Amino acid sequence: MASVSSLPKTMKGVQIEKTGGTEVLQLKTEIPVPEPKEGEVLVKNEFIGINYIDTYFRSGVYSPPSFPYTLGREGAGTIAALGPNTPSDLQLGTRVAYMGPAAYAEYTPVTANYMIPIPDSISTKVAAASLLQALTAVTLIREAYPVQKGDWVLVTAAAGGVGLWLCQLLKAVGAHTIATASTAEKRELARRNGAEVLLEYHEEDREKFVKKVLEVTGGEGVHAVFDSVGKATFDSCLAVVRRKGTMVSFGNASGPVTGFALARLSSRNVKLLRPTLFNYIATREELQQYAQELWNFIEKDGLNVKIHDVYPLSDVVRATQDIESRKTTGKLLLQP
Ligand SMILES: NC(=O)c1ccc[n+]([C@@H]2O[C@H](COP(=O)([O-])OP(=O)(O)OC[C@H]3O[C@@H](n4cnc5c(N)ncnc54)[C@H](OP(=O)(O)O)[C@@H]3O)[C@@H](O)[C@H]2O)c1
Repeated sequence: MASVSSLPKTMKGVQIEKTGGTEVLQLKTEIPVPEPKEGEVLVKNEFIGINYIDTYFRSGVYSPPSFPYTLGREGAGTIAALGPNTPSDLQLGTRVAYMGPAAYAEYTPVTANYMIPIPDSISTKVAAASLLQALTAVTLIREAYPVQKGDWVLVTAAAGGVGLWLCQLLKAVGAHTIATASTAEKRELARRNGAEVLLEYHEEDREKFVKKVLEVTGGEGVHAVFDSVGKATFDSCLAVVRRKGTMVSFGNASGPVTGFALARLSSRNVKLLRPTLFNYIATREELQQYAQELWNFIEKDGLNVKIHDVYPLSDVVRATQDIESRKTTGKLLLQP
């Protein structure tokens, strides 16, 4: 392993030894600094991205592969050590952003396939705050449903991390966005980021919601839905997709959607997808292509990332409680 002499033996990190509420989060100070294996790079994290998926691994909605399990899926910093056979554009000291497990720590070993050098024009903080959520949004509008200029698109949780990127990207490609969020403040933020029509969820009155969406879309419904709320909003979202439209369900913030009867799609020939980002960027070439597209959106179209707050790693419980309590807008970051 090529390594920097200043590499310590142990580090801080946030681990769980079982799934559960925020009480299972443990800040440890004596975790051995990992050695990067074949094709891996060790990153000294400067900023760590919080994503809603982190809560699924903590609570048990998704199963951690083993315990103790270091949480986190994204970060940015500099390369502190290289394992054997890593790509030549990754060198000691290179500023990089990555997606991969064990990010809630001072050092994270990352497979080179899920890592990208940060261009000089983008700060490490912006890269950490963008990568996973913004790439999710880019791949949703390019692959899950290739959005066309003039399309009507419904976005739920529109003031969240992924949501604000979707609002901005949809505006940039000339689509019309109908955005839902739980408070007037959040809806106003979605409007400032490009959404044209702002709606409450109306979970208690689906008829009212459907009527409003049909009104603004000339009675047809939307070309596509990007829904990340899941269980609570799935039925209302499906009800407003037009004939031959696309329903993209990509998250479980209110719980997973289960027990769906396929025959429900046939009344309007609706396409239904449940994608994950990682299957759109499974190769290094795919990651590079979409990351380049993201940097272009940020630089040329002036898209920006709203950072809700930067929390010290020791405040991980507060940060987690904040995102789960629906208090946040945009991106939450941790700093080791
Ligand atoms: N498929 C993928 O590859 C992929 C990748 C990234 C993210 N995601 C999914 O996208 C969603 C957004 O992720 P994010 O990291 O950007 O988080 P986020 O949107 O910043 O936070 C989650 C938001 O979900 C909404 N929500 C609705 N019902 C909720 C409930 N019962 N409890 C908590 N929140 C609820 C809240 O907004 P309101 O208060 O406005 O409802 C909340 O702010 C998550 O479901 C995540 O799993 C999927």
